Formats: sequence, C-alpha cells, structure tokens
Amino acid sequence: MKRGREILRDVEGYVPGEQPKETGVIKLNTNENPYPPSPSVQEALRHLTPDAIRRYPDPVSLELRQACAERYGYESADWCVAGNGMDELLALAVRTFVDPGDAILTPYPTYTLYETLAQLHGANVTMMDLDDEFRLPERFFKTPARLCFVPRPNAPTGVSGPRTDIERLCKSFDGMVVIDEAYVDFGDDNCMDFPKRFDNAIVMRTFSKSFSMAGMRVGLAVAQPDIIAEFLKTKDSYNLNAYSQAAALAAIRDYPHMEANAARIRGTRRRLRSALETIGFTVPPSQANFVLAYWNGTPSAKDIFLALKHRGIFVRYFEARRLDNALRITVGTDEETDALLDALREIIA
Ligand SMILES: Cc1ncc(COP(=O)(O)O)c(C=O)c1O
Repeated sequence: MKRGREILRDVEGYVPGEQPKETGVIKLNTNENPYPPSPSVQEALRHLTPDAIRRYPDPVSLELRQACAERYGYESADWCVAGNGMDELLALAVRTFVDPGDAILTPYPTYTLYETLAQLHGANVTMMDLDDEFRLPERFFKTPARLCFVPRPNAPTGVSGPRTDIERLCKSFDGMVVIDEAYVDFGDDNCMDFPKRFDNAIVMRTFSKSFSMAGMRVGLAVAQPDIIAEFLKTKDSYNLNAYSQAAALAAIRDYPHMEANAARIRGTRRRLRSALETIGFTVPPSQANFVLAYWNGTPSAKDIFLALKHRGIFVRYFEARRLDNALRITVGTDEETDALLDALREIIA
C-alpha cells in the first residue's frame, strides 16, 4: 500500500516557485474567479473585532450553517457542515464512511484528489472510464462500493451528466454518494434537493469558485442530519477560522453578487468555446468556469501549453490518459480571454 510521500498529490499542477506571482501574467490554470467577491465580504473582514481575533472561533460555524440551510431550502443548520474548503470535507467523507480496505468508486477522468484521498486511507479505489460523451457508464451504477464521488459538473471535462443519472445512482448505490458541486453555480441545474430525498446523498459546495473566495478556504456539505452529525464528530475542533466564517456569511447573504458574476462568466465561456472551435479545438460543452479544449494538430497540446506559459499565460495541461491532447482553460475576464485567443492564434498559425 502506498503511503505518505509515495502518494503525490497533484494540487492543480502547482509547482513550488513556478506559480505566477508577478503582475502581468494571465492565470487561467486553477479555475479561480476573475472577479472580486461581494464588497460585503471585505466589509465583514474589516469589521472583525479584536475580541473575535483573540478568542477561538465558533467551532461549529453555526451562523454560517444556518444562513446556508436557509439559502438552500433546508429547515435547520443540522443539515449542513462547513469545512476548511471542500477538500477538507472530501477527506472527512472518506475518513468517516470508509474503512481501510473498503472500495471507493470514482469516474475517470475526474478531480485527482479523490484517488489521492482513497490511497492515503488505504481504500481500494476503482476509477471507471466515462463514456465518449463523458457520461457515467452503465457499469458505474452496478458496482458496489462504500462511497462514490460524482462531480457535477465534472472536472476537468466541465461536462454535467443528466441529473437523472445522479438520481438513479442515489437509488441504486448502497454506499454514500458524494455529489461534488464545486462548479454548479456556472451550470443549468443542481442536485441540492437530493439530501431531502435520499439518505445516502451528500451534496458538497465550495466558496472558492462562484463566490470568488479561494483564499478563504470555505466549503459546505449538505446531507441528512445523522450524516452531518458524523462529520461534526470527525472534523477538527476549530476547522474554520473567524475570518473565513465572517467572509462566507457575508458572501452567502449577498447571493445576487455571486449570481451576477457567474452569469458574466457563462457569457464569456460561450464566446471562448466558440472561438476555440473556430481555431480548430474540440470543446465538450462546459457547465463550469473552465473548458477542456482538445487539440489533435501540430504543435502538440503540450507544446501549446509551454508556448502559452512562455508568454505568461498559464493554462492547465495534464500528462494523463484521455487528457494529454487537451488544455484546461479557466474562463477569465473578457480581456484575458482575448489575450489567450490571440496568443493561441499566433502559436498555431
Ligand atoms: C471538482 C472539485 N471539487 C472540489 C474542489 C476543492 O474546492 P476547495 O477550494 O473548496 O477545497 C475543487 C478545486 O479545484 C474541484 O475542482
């Protein structure tokens, strides 16, 4: 069994010292939101009192969970748990519901952290290939496991399978179904009602993407109260600091700000996708704030990635099966998108 340093976590292609820090670079490699969070977030942070800093924060983030429950149509905070980013909640789901040696099921390709978490826990992970349209294959519904991860929209494809597939999975799967909705605010629909209907459904959200708060590290899981109680038992005592709680509370209360930014990003995504297709890329329909652009010409996708990097434009390249002829490109501002498209036209000409 691999443990510790043998298991290399691929944190969004992060290479120490290579992350663009200087101004002037165009950073389209980690699916951050190009627009600022609600002004009320910064206001809330400015108004945090010395006492709020001196004291320990609320260990269970109650006010935030109440606000989230209300926003998402749940009757109380008992249906929600807040995490130090969704990544913490994904790890807690494995720790809470899976024993070492148990099976975990994920699609392929998908968010690389699922496999890493399963390996770190000593679980047996099965990564099942999505079909040619990036939908769950029939076998996925029939494979027994203690837990499965189903991101919707998926990363890095951006594709959202039908909601009815997830519904069918919750009905037929006898383990926990973690529905990762990190990017769902950029899509057409969601599964936030599933925890009311299915006792094995856990819907997870993050404040990193649509709420423009990746630096604050806040995630949310919604599930039936007995499941949430398990999360509360296994999480670190003070998993969310006072700043993160205050920021996320302000953000969820200014929902229209997030919706307006998400709508703007969807507009740019439409334009980006069609321009990429005109250049010659094949781009599966994305419901996220990024697109996966396949390229089968010359120079290779990897060489295009390197040429963009040389010009200070960072996108994501995966040296992996079904992905090594593609670039994952975050939807940035309109200006960033224009600069990217101009550079691509030059590199490919
Ligand atoms: C599919 C998916 N799930 C979860 C996360 C983690 O989000 P967070 O920043 O809240 O840890 C990411 C981050 O990129 C992601 O792509």
